[in-house]
Amino acid sequence: MSFNVCGKSVKENDVIIVFMGHDSMFPLSVKEGEITQTKYGAIKHNSLLGHGYGTKFSCTKGWVYILQATPELWTLCLPHRTQILYTADIAMITLQLDLKPGSVVCESGTGSGSLSHAILRTVAPMGHLHTVEFNEGRCNKATAEFGEHGLSQYVTVYHRDVINEGFPVENAADAVFLDIPRPDEAVKVAAKALKTTGGRFCSFSPCIEQTQRTCATLRKPGSGFCEVETLELVRRSHNVKRVYIPIADIGIGDSEVRTALIKGENNTSSVLPCAYEAGDDMPVGEIIIRTTPENKDGLSSSKNPKRAKFDMSSSQISQGGGKSYEKGKTPPAATKYAFSTRTCILPKEIYGHTGYLTFATYRPGLSHKV
Ligand SMILES: C[S@@+](CC[C@H](N)C(=O)[O-])C[C@H]1O[C@@H](n2cnc3c(N)ncnc32)[C@H](O)[C@@H]1O
Repeated sequence: MSFNVCGKSVKENDVIIVFMGHDSMFPLSVKEGEITQTKYGAIKHNSLLGHGYGTKFSCTKGWVYILQATPELWTLCLPHRTQILYTADIAMITLQLDLKPGSVVCESGTGSGSLSHAILRTVAPMGHLHTVEFNEGRCNKATAEFGEHGLSQYVTVYHRDVINEGFPVENAADAVFLDIPRPDEAVKVAAKALKTTGGRFCSFSPCIEQTQRTCATLRKPGSGFCEVETLELVRRSHNVKRVYIPIADIGIGDSEVRTALIKGENNTSSVLPCAYEAGDDMPVGEIIIRTTPENKDGLSSSKNPKRAKFDMSSSQISQGGGKSYEKGKTPPAATKYAFSTRTCILPKEIYGHTGYLTFATYRPGLSHKV
């Protein structure tokens, strides 16, 4: 009963999450007298009873954390029967569908129930989820899981083909969600399920062609849908790196270059990173002075370039000689001066595409162009 109530400690029949690491956790249904083996040793269910959620639990060869089950943790460790939706997409769906306690939602397909659990937490205790799945095995498994998680009163699972048979309710839903192949063919049944006063629609598709067809169907005159928009949520990681931007050698001496930089006569902004904005009073980087024997300034070794801090607030370059230079990170040999700064570089390829989320508002009787 742990998905529908927030308990302080473990009780018999609770579904808990045994956490052994961020990529190593599993759900466990606590049954008196049972024993479960983990890589850290056995867990005797009896000794879990009364154990506080969030605390360490000692096994024979180590310890694990005993966590209260939440839709987010369930998504990370549920038994996969299909591809599932993950928390980033689920969060956007919940927000954009305007889900709240009391909402009535129609979903298809149920799949592994990852999204369903999040919807149920949001709409309970007054709302209801009608979820349609045409695979009988998945349908039965989902029904059993919702029961085990104490969620049966908030959800009904239907075994049917949503495209040919439609949703089981008409003019009753505040929101409809589709995660099926050919979602464009289910737009009409979605409209039928939504309240005549209007509601929100979302379709998740992994491919753009499906998404385009869904958008075209939603935009057809007389469909009743407006405000059609598609979002793609892509996780971005940023690699922090030191970069060197060469300063052009325009054939004048070091001190003259520095004087020019200080005075701004050399169009200093052209050697600064794009992130710099005029008026920014943060120091953003350093001028690296590559030294050669010919340097009039008497800086001795080309292996030991000196750094001059470039302070944006005072627009001055102050010589900061003694610092050692980052190993293997010298500016290009041909360049006497380089502007050095730390910046964020995006990886060449951004992984993490899950799918496209198409949202629309249902407003039957609406005649303006959408
Ligand atoms: C990708 S899974 C859904 C995963 C689900 N959103 C989740 O987060 O766990 C798609 C499911 O839709 C079901 N499905 C496909 N076409 C359907 C249809 N026409 N009617 C009902 N269910 C359908 C499939 O059997 C499958 O279980």
